[in-house]
Amino acid sequence: MNDPKIIVALDYPDAASALALVAKLDPQLCRLKVGKELFTVAGAGLVSQLVDQGHSVFLDLKFHDIPSTVAKACEAASKLGVWMLNVHASGGSAMMMAAQEAVNKLAQPPLLIAVTVLTSMDEPALVEIGMSGGVQATAMRLAYLAKRSGLDGVVCSAQEAPLLRRELGADFKLVTPGIRPADSSLDDQSRVVTPLMAMQNGASYLVIGRPITQAANPLAALQRIHQEIKHYEN
Ligand code: C5P
Repeated sequence: MNDPKIIVALDYPDAASALALVAKLDPQLCRLKVGKELFTVAGAGLVSQLVDQGHSVFLDLKFHDIPSTVAKACEAASKLGVWMLNVHASGGSAMMMAAQEAVNKLAQPPLLIAVTVLTSMDEPALVEIGMSGGVQATAMRLAYLAKRSGLDGVVCSAQEAPLLRRELGADFKLVTPGIRPADSSLDDQSRVVTPLMAMQNGASYLVIGRPITQAANPLAALQRIHQEIKHYEN
């Protein structure tokens, strides 16, 4: 079965701009990520439209609430036919297990992954909210908690991927943003990894936004990245 590794981040302020980009892409070569901005303006209707067009959608809404609320949100998202969705691991094991149970009600459950520590959080920011022990140890602890709660994987940086792959096993999905092809602008990302390096580091899927969405020819940019990681696509 075709299992594209590239997830194109649809970071757009309205449905029309997102759909215009999507029309240029090849659904055989990529999946799509709908995040908070686009979902807030365009809603479930856009997600259903993308699914109906044959696209595989990662709904990146990072749910974090009491277990029953998150479970209902995850069930509702699953019913839209999304391929993957996510929650915050810091919501705890009861919340993650409720979320997993909810998605498992579907005949074909989507992948459920967790966010560990947001990359915008440094050590002082973690201490401020009562989380001590450092960013890396906290991220690892939360990744273990996600795995023990039955989730399919985590979002992580491609630089952390080798350690997480070793610790969490071959089947745990590692979804990595912060990817830049060698010839591409850094934008506001600082610690970037090329698509090939990310796959070599053990990433399962690559979240890539501007190197594709802002390219003069988005399809050509997507095809180049696909060629670079072809060995890992199946
Ligand atoms: O355009 P770019 O490739 O930087 O987009 C990356 C996408 O991944 C964006 O949607 C961004 O919000 C998301 N992301 C990230 N870094 C994280 C987590 C998510 O860039 N640590």
